[in-house]
Amino acid sequence: MIFRATNISKSYGKLQVLKNVSLTLESGQSIAILGRSGEGKTTLLHILAKLEEPDSGQIEMGEKILSKANAHLIRRHELGYIFQSYNLLEDFTALENVLMPARIARIPAPKEKGLKLLEDVGLASKADIAAKHLSGGERQRVAIARARCNNPHLILADEPTGNLDRENRDQVGRLLKGLQQSLILVTHDPTLASLCDRQYVLENGSLFPLARN
Ligand SMILES: Nc1ncnc2c1ncn2[C@@H]1O[C@H](COP(=O)(O)OP(=O)(O)OP(=O)(O)O)[C@@H](O)[C@H]1O
Ligand SMILES: [Mg+2]
Repeated sequence: MIFRATNISKSYGKLQVLKNVSLTLESGQSIAILGRSGEGKTTLLHILAKLEEPDSGQIEMGEKILSKANAHLIRRHELGYIFQSYNLLEDFTALENVLMPARIARIPAPKEKGLKLLEDVGLASKADIAAKHLSGGERQRVAIARARCNNPHLILADEPTGNLDRENRDQVGRLLKGLQQSLILVTHDPTLASLCDRQYVLENGSLFPLARN
């Protein structure tokens, strides 16, 4: 399943954040996007997930062109999204948050599956704790587990280790690297980026392949 974005542009008023950005991802591939704060990384991921509309450009997933009509179904069944600010449901437990994508898509999801996803991020013991009582790094890891719930083809991860200590960063890095899914990863962490198949920098609205030295 090939994921392709073609000539994505986006402005907010006079600020042109993305200028004709294109990228292609083959099945199972991973790419990392680095870039300074405010360069438009989150904006790009939102657009790739159709959470935000570009001014121009097209996104294809396999045979399908993403549109307003099909985006919600694709998000439910084919995309996993790890939000920079987690977006957990505060009054729900870690386990309930992890299984929420299945609930929304009306896919049966046994508790065991949610527990396994939590275990993969080292949080099996926190399954029954409400999200609002979890630490920042724990929330971040719940958000990572949740993105995998519906076995999506593609995971879009916005700084998924921004709040983690070294050990948990390494664990999440190994986990993301080991996934079958395609992965687009925004990160400030060069070590995490280096685990991906390709690395890009978003600068002045364009994606540049990262020069290796
Ligand atoms: N809805 C909006 N209205 C106006 N400006 C916006 C909007 N969304 C984003 N921006 C601006 O677009 C630019 C890119 O923001 P974005 O959040 O994509 O940056 P980022 O690369 O993810 O930064 P960070 O590394 O800090 O997360 C910023 O200057 C931001 O202020
Ligand atoms: Mg961001």
